[in-house]
Amino acid sequence: MVWKLLKFVFMLPLFGLVAIVATSCTQLGLNYASLETANKGVARPALELVSLEDWQVRETPKLQAKLEEAIFGPVPLGIKARIVSRRVVEARYLGGRGVLEELLIELGEGVGAVQFRLALATPKVPLGPAPLIIGQTFCDNMGVFEYAGLSAPMRGRSCGMSANRSALGAFFMFIFGEYINKAPMEDYLERGYAYANFFAAEIVPDSAEAGRRVLDVFPAGADGRQPTGAVAAWAAGYFAAIDLLSDDPRLDAEKIAVFGHSRHGKSALVAAAWDRRIKAVISHQSGTAGASLSRDKPGETVDHILNGHSFGDGYPHWFAPEFSAFAKDVDGLPIDQHALIALIAPRRVLLGNGRRDVWSDPNGAYRAAEGASGAWALYGQDGLAQDGMKAFNREAGIAYHLRPGGHGIVRADVDAFLAFLEVSFEGG
Ligand code: GCU
Repeated sequence: MVWKLLKFVFMLPLFGLVAIVATSCTQLGLNYASLETANKGVARPALELVSLEDWQVRETPKLQAKLEEAIFGPVPLGIKARIVSRRVVEARYLGGRGVLEELLIELGEGVGAVQFRLALATPKVPLGPAPLIIGQTFCDNMGVFEYAGLSAPMRGRSCGMSANRSALGAFFMFIFGEYINKAPMEDYLERGYAYANFFAAEIVPDSAEAGRRVLDVFPAGADGRQPTGAVAAWAAGYFAAIDLLSDDPRLDAEKIAVFGHSRHGKSALVAAAWDRRIKAVISHQSGTAGASLSRDKPGETVDHILNGHSFGDGYPHWFAPEFSAFAKDVDGLPIDQHALIALIAPRRVLLGNGRRDVWSDPNGAYRAAEGASGAWALYGQDGLAQDGMKAFNREAGIAYHLRPGGHGIVRADVDAFLAFLEVSFEGG
């Protein structure tokens, strides 16, 4: 008992340090996002909504080209992916609720080929071919599935099992929420959903220098272009998972959703905007260069995300080098983030937000959703259809969710994800 108390006291300064480091990337969350949207700038340039045919044939490629040229660099669809090896890790995962497998995947060939591990849990008692959710995470698979039998990551810092079990892990979860490192696996499996996950840092390391080194030799997509930013390159993990899992008879290739939080939420939006096999996307707190508009914004600016700020460094490796031309000139951007959301129509989008996560700008994400909604209208559907930022409507094409609190993944978020997925996966 005394020892435990002493240990706790010794750990306090460490906890303090972690709190400073942790909050430095979320900017403390001391303010509240404004719920007023009518008095702020609308998304611009407005979408050109001439007709559905015009949208599909002319506008979609034009908007994709602008997003690639100004922000994300080439999105590498169609990189050749193969399964190097595959093993059943646990036949009775979570007390027999599912089967847990691990696939070693290789993207591309030769010098720049990239290997990463995809962990896949399928429901033991299928209710039919299982809808599939594919997650891209900060944490390696061991932490996400809370299963020590999965392999440690080949690159990047592991969250490991200790992330969820240690005192430090508990503290981390206190700041960023219970589900920051782990997936809600029981919820998924009990609903008959399969869940696959990859650790983004295995594909491109999440650091400016190491990230650029991998990007410089990264495999090219089917059109021969290499990605020049990590957000687009990470999306290749979703594409490869879909390529390699779509013919698995246990899975329903018509019901594929992708998930990502924060930087990975940016990548999830990009993946869904380019790959129409994705039927639903959960992009949680994706913020700047994600769901939030780059113009008229509180919180993180384009300059911050590229060049850093008083609390920390920027993330230039996430984007095409061309993005830096707009760091101090957002008005010069030929496009804004509502276009990224619009490209997903008529498929389903969940935008998750926290009221105190002003850094990621929940208000700007709502205005982006408003600006994107016309694309759903072309298909005769609702885009955003809710009465303000607090009124979650899981049925609409864009379901905007706002809960109290800051940057992280808490139970209320998971409940919104599940409600959204239920609608996304219904019918068939
Ligand atoms: C930083 C960054 C955000 C990003 C976030 C995250 O806060 O500024 O743009 O979304 O990290 O990925 O957690």
